[in-house]
Amino acid sequence: MTKSDLHVAESYRQRLLISRADIQRRVTELAQQISKDYAGRIPILIGVLNGAFIFLADLVRQLQIDCEVDFVKISSYGCGKESSGAVRMLKDLDADIRDRDVLVVEDIVDSGLSVQWLRRYFEEREPRSLRVVAFLRKVGAARVPYEVEYIGFDIPNAFVVGYGLDLGQRYRNLPDIYVLEEVSPP
Ligand code: IMP
Repeated sequence: MTKSDLHVAESYRQRLLISRADIQRRVTELAQQISKDYAGRIPILIGVLNGAFIFLADLVRQLQIDCEVDFVKISSYGCGKESSGAVRMLKDLDADIRDRDVLVVEDIVDSGLSVQWLRRYFEEREPRSLRVVAFLRKVGAARVPYEVEYIGFDIPNAFVVGYGLDLGQRYRNLPDIYVLEEVSPP
């Protein structure tokens, strides 16, 4: 049995949505685009923990420019599938981003609350430029207007795990993206 064959939980069925090969192809394309757009600059990539750690690691290794890396950790979800709506900073930046080219690296944009909150938070620190790259974006899930400059994949409005994304802190290590579908008890 390989990791991707694991049954993620008894009450859920997993359905493959994006394979690791498609992920790697798309990450390479994003890295090429970002390298082109930031040519001659040294952006600071800010990974949003925990979900973005794998995407960020893959992305930076494909960049053809110099960059710096920092992390923030925010919380908007408990351990379930529904957003509480309230965003809190759990781990702040170490770097000073004033006058820097900042690229925020997000795992997934769902309601847009986190990304909208983060943009405002970073804008206040007066970076030279501020853009966001999100690995996934859920279509039709926005609850607030938001801006994201680079998107890996648009996906249906369903709960997904793998490639850094979790359900109750599990399944982040799955190398592909899966939709979790709830199985009703017999
Ligand atoms: P938003 O604030 O509703 O856009 O949610 C953003 C955050 O919620 C993401 O950075 C994820 O950590 C989490 N999230 C949203 N949808 C999913 C999902 O389908 N799977 C796992 N985490 C999710």
